[in-house]
Amino acid sequence: SKKISIAIDGPASAGKSTVAKILAKELHYVYCDTGAMYRAITYQALVNDVDVHDEQALVQLLQKTMITFEPHQEGQKVFVNQQEVTQVIRKPQVTNQVSHVSVHKGVREELVRRQQKIAECGGIVMDGRDIGTAVLPNAEVKIFLIASVEERAERRFLENQKNGIDTPLEKLKEEIATRDHIDSTRKISPLVQAKDAILVDTTGLNIPEVVTKIKEIVSKQV
Ligand code: C5P
Repeated sequence: SKKISIAIDGPASAGKSTVAKILAKELHYVYCDTGAMYRAITYQALVNDVDVHDEQALVQLLQKTMITFEPHQEGQKVFVNQQEVTQVIRKPQVTNQVSHVSVHKGVREELVRRQQKIAECGGIVMDGRDIGTAVLPNAEVKIFLIASVEERAERRFLENQKNGIDTPLEKLKEEIATRDHIDSTRKISPLVQAKDAILVDTTGLNIPEVVTKIKEIVSKQV
């Protein structure tokens, strides 16, 4: 069967990467977590004392920043200039700054260029905020994954517990809502459902149920 492109977009903690990883594994496709790329440059900015509001400085930093992925049992490892950052880019310091970095046109242009290169051969599952609208507008399958903010905060809370992060649930709710607001209202490629994307509401569904739903959608295209 032909190798297609699958775009999965949606707000924070909707389960995009969990589902995208499983899907990529089952289809023997490449998985690309574009959020990890925005997180990686944000991490670099924090480490190098670059102001997240300084577009020029960020673009310059990005030119010196190689972001690579390495397949791994479940998912992938992320590297910045050969240094592994898989865990550290999930920390609250990065999570709560990343939306300020991702508003900048220059940052987005460079990362979108890199993402399109990764996807160029097809056989890809890519997740993010603007994959169906800007990065892969011709993707054969576009999914827009949503869930209530309460449920997303609860999922993030449980995930954080495993990683020893103990932000209270109410604070997580606030952080998620703030990030969604910044991502949805920015000028360049805001978080929005593509016209031809299929909306999947995962509120009340577990991971296998979501995967089954999306596989049904994909099977009509492959
Ligand atoms: O998906 P994840 O939560 O890791 O994304 C982190 C942040 O990166 C988002 O909140 C958003 O600001 C930015 N992002 C983006 N475009 C993408 C993927 C992520 O602006 N395609």
